[in-house]
Amino acid sequence: MQIIRSIADLRIARRDLEGTLALVPTMGALHEGHLALVREGRRRADKVAATIFVNPLQFGPNEDLSRYPRQEEQDLALLSQEGCDLVWLPTPDQLYPEGFATTISVSGVSERWDGAARPGHFTGVATVVAKLLIACAPDVALFGEKDFQQLAVIRRMVTDLGLPVEIVGVPTVRDPDGLALSSRNAYLSAAQRDQALALPRQLQQAAARILAGEPVAAVLADAEAALRDAGFGKIDYVALVDADSLEPLDRPGQTMRLLAAATLGTTRLIDNLSVAAPQQSQG
Ligand code: PAJ
Repeated sequence: MQIIRSIADLRIARRDLEGTLALVPTMGALHEGHLALVREGRRRADKVAATIFVNPLQFGPNEDLSRYPRQEEQDLALLSQEGCDLVWLPTPDQLYPEGFATTISVSGVSERWDGAARPGHFTGVATVVAKLLIACAPDVALFGEKDFQQLAVIRRMVTDLGLPVEIVGVPTVRDPDGLALSSRNAYLSAAQRDQALALPRQLQQAAARILAGEPVAAVLADAEAALRDAGFGKIDYVALVDADSLEPLDRPGQTMRLLAAATLGTTRLIDNLSVAAPQQSQG
């Protein structure tokens, strides 16, 4: 596996790569969710590249940029074991040169939910992903459904800018008890780790009740109350949305997704679930 740190070296390595390329952008602290993206990349292209970059542009002033977990050596070992061909670890000054003044804002799909709760977040994501896609020029890029709104924002950005890359969404990888894997789970104490299970469980329960025809507003209110009872503090949203537009639904629609974000102690967790009859369910 080639380990690359400068854009100049990346250009040379990219030029010399043969066949099609899949890209997996990450912020490191890798877990099975990230590795599932690498595996899917290997299925879809001849070569797989990953990036590790904790992107300052997508963190708000009071967010966890400085405490975000960093474990470069372990990440490189995991990527190498998965058969990743190349990893690029840019530094902030390579991606954001002195005087940096160009950002990419995606309106519409990035405005609600995490976009409202974390002002500027999706502009930071869209900008860095565009830059990574331009620099690496992959044929395919893989993103997790774990960050469902992020995936929608990236699809919109790639379509609108006409970037020549196929965006592939990969289903959320969960621990056996249902908690979605996240680098931020490392912040949770053992007791909080137990409390956090309420998030996937309430989404499951809400999905079943919506499919059974119960009124959407009551189902969402019950889920919020149950999260509070389980120990969650600030609940940013529990919403039923159209899976394509991410606009809220007050009654069942064609393609439905439940989205939730809530804070346990100082840790903000997000999760989402497809709402579909079992034979169509996609996790
Ligand atoms: P990060 O949180 O490191 O996630 C990198 C990729 O892994 C994202 O596409 C995310 O959706 C996916 N992922 C995370 N947890 C997952 C899980 N449990 N199952 C499946 N996929 C999972 O998301 C980011 O980094 C950044 O915003 C980034 C896109 C790299 C831009 O900075």
